[in-house]
Amino acid sequence: MAKGKKVTVIGTGNFGSTVAFILAMNGTCHDVVLRGRNYDVAKGKALDMSQAANAARQHTIVRAAKGPEDMRDSDVVVITAGAPRTPGMSRDDLLLMNADIVKMYAKEIKEYAPNSIVIVVSNPLDVMTYVALKYTGFPREKVLGMAGILDAARMAHFIYEKLGYGAGQIRATVMGGHGDTMVPLPRFTTVAGVPIDDLLDSEEIGEIVKKTRNGGAEIVNLLGNGSAYYAPAKSTTIMVDAILKNTNQIHSCAILLKNEYGYSDVVSGVPVMIGADGVKEVIEMTLKNLQVRRFKASVEAVKEMIDKLYELKFFDDLEKK
Ligand code: 2OP
Repeated sequence: MAKGKKVTVIGTGNFGSTVAFILAMNGTCHDVVLRGRNYDVAKGKALDMSQAANAARQHTIVRAAKGPEDMRDSDVVVITAGAPRTPGMSRDDLLLMNADIVKMYAKEIKEYAPNSIVIVVSNPLDVMTYVALKYTGFPREKVLGMAGILDAARMAHFIYEKLGYGAGQIRATVMGGHGDTMVPLPRFTTVAGVPIDDLLDSEEIGEIVKKTRNGGAEIVNLLGNGSAYYAPAKSTTIMVDAILKNTNQIHSCAILLKNEYGYSDVVSGVPVMIGADGVKEVIEMTLKNLQVRRFKASVEAVKEMIDKLYELKFFDDLEKK
């Protein structure tokens, strides 16, 4: 366990609760703080999880936050708050609903947890990461969106489903925004080092790419009243782990681009190296023509939403630097 480490999870819905639960079960940190709108519910869940941690012989204590001041000294803050998708909605439909919520929490983090690293998972994820970055005022290395790990896990699952073997050996890669334009990259996907195009034909790979893009919506439609949370939560805790244990692992995460891949002032999912201070390095892969075009379309879709927020004067209350 990373001794004395503290993680605050904002949002006590299925996603936030599952993030906290995985952290407690793995003993990833000493303290987990659950910050939700309803204190009693947060407290009930926190007690339940602390007791589960004891059953699992872990030392993690989960507490409910009475207010924003309980975020103090957090090493990591995860923002899961916001409305989830329901059937028929795209992640982008949540834009205005969730931007205000993320803005409010980002301001609190700036005040009460100024040294934390922020992981954003509210949708539309890339734009919400941009909002959190602006309102915390943190350097871009400390504000990350979680999606590439999730989308890659989904792609790996669909590859396994098709092949019938290779579970746990599949390394899939997905870049771009966490939306309908995400960019699964079969060329950078292997099963124990074997390129997938040596194992599957192009039609099968095309089908896997399509299923990956639709992976979240498929679950939204089945659940009927919310979106996925087990794989999203597990993916989030992989990032928390990489930060608290200073692993220097490479994961695809959403980050503000500064000239990487030719884009700036927009957030998109790219491979980054994660350690104790957040992102240590943004990695630029060599993309081929089609991949370049798909990444462009994905970045532009996110940019459009950010521009919409500017048009609506959403950022007008930002303190001028
Ligand atoms: C998903 O793709 C919640 O956006 C998340 O399921």
